[in-house]
Amino acid sequence: DSWTPEKGALIIGDMAAEGRTALLPILHEIQASFGHVPAEAVPMIAEALNLTRADVHGVVSFYHDFQETPVAPRVLKLCRAEACQAAGADQVARRVAERTGLACGETSADGALAVAAVYCLGLCATAPSAMLEGPGVEGGRRLGARLGGPRLER
Ligand code: FES
Repeated sequence: DSWTPEKGALIIGDMAAEGRTALLPILHEIQASFGHVPAEAVPMIAEALNLTRADVHGVVSFYHDFQETPVAPRVLKLCRAEACQAAGADQVARRVAERTGLACGETSADGALAVAAVYCLGLCATAPSAMLEGPGVEGGRRLGARLGGPRLER
């Protein structure tokens, strides 16, 4: 759905009764509903929860689950944290760039795929790791990329 302040206000109004503990649930709901957390939502949430804008913005920018701008329908998240770096994350990113033409932080010209850097997917044991998310990808497809390939698997 596309963001409007009216739709955002309905979500925030419904959930704000829980007080400050509603911050993360509200952000997740806005992210899920609109594909990102618009800058316009930050002061609305801050006012509803009696927080500062800086408090809310700090949370939005800290968690990689929250995007400040709309993202493509499918997002390939490449882990760039330490364990994956040690296991060849740079090679995976180069291979993805060769195959898709996209570096981390870029979106395809048709808007269908974005490649994003993330910092630990909790899959360090199968590093280097990546995850594909989007419509038709049930619960996020985890990709344990193997060097020499990399081979992408469920
Ligand atoms: Fe990449 Fe943990 S460091 S999954």
